[in-house]
Parts: sequence; C-alpha cells; structure tokens
Amino acid sequence: MGANESSEIDPNKRERSIPTLELAKKSASELCFARMSIRSYDESKSIDSTAMDAIQMFLKDPIKMTFPKEGSKAQRIELLCKDEAVKGKLGTYGIISGAKYFLVGITESEASSLEMGFVFERLVLLCTSLGLGTCWIGGTFNKSQFKANLTLNEHEQIFAVSPVGYPLDKEKLIGRAFASGHNKRKPFNQICFKGLNYDENNGFESPESVGPIGIALEAARWSPSAINSQPWRLFVQPNKDDSSKSSVHFFIVGPSDHYQINDCGIALSNFTYVTESFGDDKRGEIRILTGEDVPAIQGDPEKTKKLIYCASWVEL
Ligand SMILES: Cc1cc2nc3c(=O)[nH]c(=O)nc-3n(C[C@H](O)[C@H](O)[C@H](O)COP(=O)(O)O)c2cc1C
Repeated sequence: MGANESSEIDPNKRERSIPTLELAKKSASELCFARMSIRSYDESKSIDSTAMDAIQMFLKDPIKMTFPKEGSKAQRIELLCKDEAVKGKLGTYGIISGAKYFLVGITESEASSLEMGFVFERLVLLCTSLGLGTCWIGGTFNKSQFKANLTLNEHEQIFAVSPVGYPLDKEKLIGRAFASGHNKRKPFNQICFKGLNYDENNGFESPESVGPIGIALEAARWSPSAINSQPWRLFVQPNKDDSSKSSVHFFIVGPSDHYQINDCGIALSNFTYVTESFGDDKRGEIRILTGEDVPAIQGDPEKTKKLIYCASWVEL
C-alpha cells in the first residue's frame, strides 16, 4: 500500500461473492450482507432436492407466506421450471442468462406491495442460505410469456419475478453492466435518523452508535431495491411507555409508486429477519400506524413533505 493510500474500509461499499452453501452457517445479518443480485446462471445444474424441498416447504407454509400482521392474506408466489411444460420462452430481455427456474410474485392489487416485498424477500434470503442466486426483476421481463404459464384470475397480475439457481462462477459482462453501483449504498447517516427529526445532521453515524438494533438497520440498508434507489428512511424513536425500548418507523421518499413501497417491504423484511434472530432479547412486532398515530416527522418542510409512511417495528 502506498504512503497516501488509506487502509480504512469504506462502510458504504461491499465486495460480495456469489452465494455458496457456506452461507447456511452464517448469522442472519451476515446473510443479508452476503445476498447480491445474480444475473448469470449455470444452465446445466438443476436445483438439488434438499434445496427444492426447502423452497417448496416455504411456498406451502401459510405463516411464511403471510406478512406478519393481523388481517393479512397469504401472498401468491409460484415456482416455474423451464424444463417442465413451460410454453415458449421466459424472457428477461437478455438481462438474465442461463436461468432454468423463476419465482413469480403475483398480486391482486398494488395495495399489497409492502406485503409482497416482505414475503418475497424472505424467500430470497432462504434461497441465498441454500447457496442459490436470485435477482428481483420488476420491469425487464416479458409479462405475457410468464402469464402464458400461469393461471391468473381477472384481478391478479405478475408483480415481480426472480430467477433462482446456481450462479455461474463469474457474473457475465451484461450482468455487471446492468448492476453497476450495486455494491454501494447511501451512507448510514442518510438512512437512519435519531427520533423523528429528518435533518441531515441528525443521522446515526454508524450501526454501533444505535445500540443492539443497529445491525438490523444495517441489514435493511443493504437490502436490494429497484435500480438501487434505496428509497427507505428509518426513524428510531424511544417507546413512550418504556424509553429503554425503541420503535423504528419506515418511510420512503416519494413520489411513491408501488415498487418503492415494495422496496420498503424488502427493507422491513431484512430488518426483522435480523431482530427475529435475537430471540427473546429483542422481541418486536410490525404495526401499520394510522391517523394521529402516524409519526409526524420534523425538519425542512420541502424534504419532509416527500416522506411517505409505510410501517413501524415496535419493540415489546
Ligand atoms: C423491486 C425490484 C426490481 C428490480 N428490477 C430489476 C430489473 O428489472 N433488472 C435488473 O437487472 N435488476 C433489477 N433489480 C435488482 C437491483 O438492480 C439490485 O437489487 C440493486 O442494484 C442492488 O444490488 P444488489 O441486489 O446486488 O445488492 C430489482 C430490484 C428490486 C428490489
């Protein structure tokens, strides 16, 4: 290293490796950090029976398929395999190569974007732990080709898909080009704020400075998002009845569309995936606050007016 080069690690960059079975041994937060979008797959490999059983068990489990809030319905996600009676191509406009399997997220209305984001991301994390690659695809796939292989009711539409399978050793150039900047995230202090004050000087400097849930916020920061836009802003507030406990309020920076709300569901999924791994030490529940209970974010009105509330995690 030259005299002027810094040995400091940039906390906003992560060089990640393609998933392997080694990830099954990792902690919840390490798994969230290791996940990356994979666009080149080994066409010669079928998903092995252990991994396939785990995916099928997830898809059949009504608890895993449902956003953890009273009144939520199970999401619909189908697994399509190109070797089995698939009509024509399952096209992704050349973005994905070699994929034999696709997970397909189907929604009845845009109102369930947050819930689909949450559940689909849990499946993505399961696949990552099984050494399988995934890549959320919101726009660059041929909807009619996928539709031709599914039975949808008149209200249902395909929301997003993801290839799933064993990654090629090297991501091909096309994948890299599309994914430029994917190893970077906005700084922690621009994403996670103290209390309800959305001021650029009011961000937490690091996960460590938040306390035990800091690592879960860091997992949320490393979530995937459409065009890596990272629309989420997270506000950490002490609970009114017990200030030793906290709540995290999840907002997005608008203008909102259903993919940004979906992105917020993904971040909430990663966050709670880590808090759940704390067990009884940090129990919490997801609440969607309404009316006067929606946290009133303070700060420059030009900035706060763009914030849209999505959900809260409340420590119990
Ligand atoms: C809802 C959603 C839609 C996405 N759509 C596409 C897509 O159409 N094409 C693509 O190549 N990547 C797509 N991505 C992947 C993002 O580009 C990727 O998550 C982001 O760049 C961060 O990189 P990482 O996933 O490797 O951490 C999408 C991601 C999400 C969450």
